[in-house]
Amino acid sequence: MSQIKAVRGTRDLLPPETELWNHIEATARRVFARYAFGEIRTPIFEDTQLFARGVGEETDIVSKEMYTWEDRARAQSEKAQMLTLRPENTAGVVRAYIEYKLGDAGLLQKLYYIGPQFRRERPQKGRYRQFFQIGAEVIGPPSAGSESPLRDAEVLEMLATLLEELGITGWTLEMNSVGSAMDRPRYVQALREALVDVAPTLCIDCQRRAVTNPLRVLDCKVREDQEKIDALPKIADFLDEGSRAHFAQVCAALDACGVLYTINPRLVRGLDYYTRTTFEFTHSGLGAQNALLGGGRYDGLSEAIGGPKAPGIGFAMGADRLVLTLQALPSQAANDPGLADAYIAPLGEAQQAESLVLARELRRAGLRVELGDGSFRLKKSFEMGNKLARAIVLFGEDEARSGIVTVKNFQTGEQTKVPRNELSSVLRRD
Ligand code: HAM
Repeated sequence: MSQIKAVRGTRDLLPPETELWNHIEATARRVFARYAFGEIRTPIFEDTQLFARGVGEETDIVSKEMYTWEDRARAQSEKAQMLTLRPENTAGVVRAYIEYKLGDAGLLQKLYYIGPQFRRERPQKGRYRQFFQIGAEVIGPPSAGSESPLRDAEVLEMLATLLEELGITGWTLEMNSVGSAMDRPRYVQALREALVDVAPTLCIDCQRRAVTNPLRVLDCKVREDQEKIDALPKIADFLDEGSRAHFAQVCAALDACGVLYTINPRLVRGLDYYTRTTFEFTHSGLGAQNALLGGGRYDGLSEAIGGPKAPGIGFAMGADRLVLTLQALPSQAANDPGLADAYIAPLGEAQQAESLVLARELRRAGLRVELGDGSFRLKKSFEMGNKLARAIVLFGEDEARSGIVTVKNFQTGEQTKVPRNELSSVLRRD
């Protein structure tokens, strides 16, 4: 029969790589806790309208990349609901904020999430159809200070700290301001006008984008197009005074704490909800998919999906890309737990039950223990032990009776007799 494989663009994460995933997630949780964020878990599928209205009908994500299906209607009279596997989590978090009236207490909500997202993109290194994000959002009523540039700077400073604690260096923070909901249409219009003459000289994708979604022209990576795109109108020239001052304050707070950034006037990002600050952290080690994380402010998102005014700012890190970046560093061997501390070899079936007791004692003492099988011969026990652990503990009839076991350390070749109650301290790594 033909073999069934993981679906294109999805993958299984296996040990020891999953150790690295756990390490990244634990580090993120620790850092988020210090900044007083709490965890939110939203459903993996949502009403399709949430993304159409939240992320934007015209975006690549919504128009091309979503996994959407019609749910079965419960009754004949009922209209079938369209559902979508979440392509991102900001819209879901804001939906929950509205649904549970989280703003009613008049405080900022600081929420983080870790989980899978789904986009039907062309798979390549660092780009998958099921991928994982570690993200956070700060959202609340304006009276709680949700619009303050200090929120933007605090989130960015937290990200710099998190990357430092993960041991990721060599990143670049690129920032821009895309202005208010009023500024953007004026800019898009100016871009459209400028593109009338320029677009025919650009790559075929840009010629299409110039008509369908002119902002996406700014993402073009084709080398020959760069000079011409750099010469197009810049959004910075279309910002109102409020957006300009806001961005200047974000930059000043980052300067004060020494977080380095560059301003990229072409960073407009691919989701429609952004207003004012947008940012990306890139890493050159990642190749074509070089964005480690992206985010920004979304002051109108709550209202776009039927909620109260609730400005917010947040980001999502591509966990798959953090893993790729860390795997490229030599220090990562430390995260592989490698060999177990001990392999317990019951030397006969009569010792099996008691060998589980011994393994239980050592595991409760915090050791990483592999347990053999009483039907193995001595030679096979040694072979297995040598593959799995740093030491083998022989547990036969004599050992069970006397309470003194034989330990062979594979690394030094030394063989010793050890009283059972001293075993955990002998086996412990120094
Ligand atoms: P995004 O830029 O679409 O933003 O995604 C954020 C990050 O997720 C990217 O920088 C990348 O690291 C990772 N990512 C995206 N697509 C893929 C993929 N196909 N395979 C692997 N990794 C991927 C958002 O999703 C926004 N919700 C971020 C945000 C939160 N803005 C405000 N709050």
